Amino acid sequence: MACSIEKVDLTCLPPADEILSQREADFFQTLRLPKRRMEWLGGRFALKRLIHSLTGAPLQEIEALPHPSGKPILTVKGEACPFAFSITHSHGWAAACVSRDERFVGIDLEKIEKRSSAWAESFFHPSERKQTDETFLTALWTQKEALVKLLGTGLSVNSYDVRCIDGQPFFFGAAQQAYMRLGSPRVLLQTYELVPGMMFTLAHGQ
Ligand SMILES: CC(C)(COP(=O)(O)OP(=O)(O)OC[C@H]1O[C@@H](n2cnc3c(N)ncnc32)[C@H](O)[C@@H]1OP(=O)(O)O)[C@@H](O)C(=O)NCCC(=O)NCCS
Repeated sequence: MACSIEKVDLTCLPPADEILSQREADFFQTLRLPKRRMEWLGGRFALKRLIHSLTGAPLQEIEALPHPSGKPILTVKGEACPFAFSITHSHGWAAACVSRDERFVGIDLEKIEKRSSAWAESFFHPSERKQTDETFLTALWTQKEALVKLLGTGLSVNSYDVRCIDGQPFFFGAAQQAYMRLGSPRVLLQTYELVPGMMFTLAHGQ
């Protein structure tokens, strides 16, 4: 399979010292909010399980250390890891994606729930707002966030500059520049309920 996905229930995590390297553990100690701690740990557990299955490296020798861009730096046994990867967490779940074959991936997981029309209008360009129900809008949200992770920009770009129309991505402004810097790969979106009641998108490109 081109992209492997791992999801983890944050209530079923092993102890941090079975997952983290010393440098990760040092950073983990600086996180104060219990929710953030669980999510940060869970995302790494999911990612490390995937990398372990591909390389055989022990979890503590796989490091995903924070970077100012928001996207962690991934190393295996101290060497830069060439695999494309992405992390997401939401409402008690974390997930990771790793690909050996695709050069770019981004994932996002969000709970399907009613949100205000003001939120939808501020986040989605009018051309994207073809329906107003919560399942459609949550799916759209995960597509957009998976795409900004694939680009590596996060939401430092304007959300209107990454548009999803009928499951196809379109880039404008700073997002288009970031997309071109990647070499304008053909990007595919797969959107589905990874966990019942939680919408998930995998964006991947070669
Ligand atoms: C990236 C963003 C889409 C995250 O989405 P979210 O729904 O809030 O959070 P998720 O749980 O789905 O994803 C968080 C994960 O995305 C990843 N991530 C964060 N920034 C990223 C980026 N620029 N590119 C790719 N992945 C990124 C991280 O792995 C993070 O998890 P971790 O901090 O535990 O390692 C968005 O919220 C965002 O841009 N946040 C601000 C980050 C930012 O712009 N920083 C710039 C500082 S100069």
